[in-house]
Amino acid sequence: MEKDFIIAPESADVDLSGQIAVVTGANSGMGAATKKLFEKHGAIVCGLDLVEDDEANNMYNCNIADQTKVKEVIEKIDKKFGKIDILVCCAGVTNAINFEELTEAQWDRTMNINAKGTFFISQAVYEVMKRNKYGKMVHVSSIAGLASGAGSSVDYACSKGAVLVLSRYIARIGAEHGIYSNAIIPGPTETPMLYKLKDFNKPVIEDTSFPMNRKAKPEDCAYAILFLASQQSNFITGAYLDTNGGLVMR
Ligand SMILES: NC(=O)c1ccc[n+]([C@@H]2O[C@H](COP(=O)([O-])OP(=O)(O)OC[C@H]3O[C@@H](n4cnc5c(N)ncnc54)[C@H](O)[C@@H]3O)[C@@H](O)[C@H]2O)c1
Repeated sequence: MEKDFIIAPESADVDLSGQIAVVTGANSGMGAATKKLFEKHGAIVCGLDLVEDDEANNMYNCNIADQTKVKEVIEKIDKKFGKIDILVCCAGVTNAINFEELTEAQWDRTMNINAKGTFFISQAVYEVMKRNKYGKMVHVSSIAGLASGAGSSVDYACSKGAVLVLSRYIARIGAEHGIYSNAIIPGPTETPMLYKLKDFNKPVIEDTSFPMNRKAKPEDCAYAILFLASQQSNFITGAYLDTNGGLVMR
């Protein structure tokens, strides 16, 4: 079957010039590092987060758990640029609560943002990408979504498992429309989120036995995301890329 989207890049150099990217959670940690890295590679990056609108810096106020707001912001970006080539779903929250103590409200908040919110934004952007017959989605899961007991609360682990399935679901349905969908699976990464867990998850945070003798920096994850958002990964979809420095090898 003939396709009218780009099959392979002409060069090994990552060039995102002319591309429009949406990055959720762009005000902090991995999302902020990704926005900066993509801009360095030529993309126009619309950052979504719980911030005031700042269109001069391409930052948009958007709670991803609010479907009406998500649709409004994606429509605004689509109207302004006429397309969205890349979606990176970084926005997320975690809890530091033991299994026996987790309440329904705490479970709901995490699932609403990490699982449902990631679905809302992916669904809204999918429509734009389908119309344009091209798009790269990268979903940020977590080692907690794979390995039970990876020092996270149960709501967070379950929400990150959902993100993995969502990413592969989109890979399956999107392939015929030129839409790629992949996930990265970070281990402990030095961002504000990790340090929110410092009392709950001391053994992981203070561990000195990481194979590379360090935790990830947000930029380590941003480079993995860049690869999956670029045309250098044009035969990769439905993949899970471990970005944990060898902490878990599978
Ligand atoms: N830091 C780690 O150790 C680690 C490990 C594995 C996976 N992750 C995942 O990486 C992603 C990025 O996290 P980070 O470590 O950079 O954390 P972070 O707390 O630095 O950044 C998360 C960002 O998401 C935003 N956000 C939260 N709720 C939102 C909502 N409802 N709508 C829009 N934005 C919202 C926050 O305001 C923040 O800017 C998350 O999905 C997280 O689960 C982090």
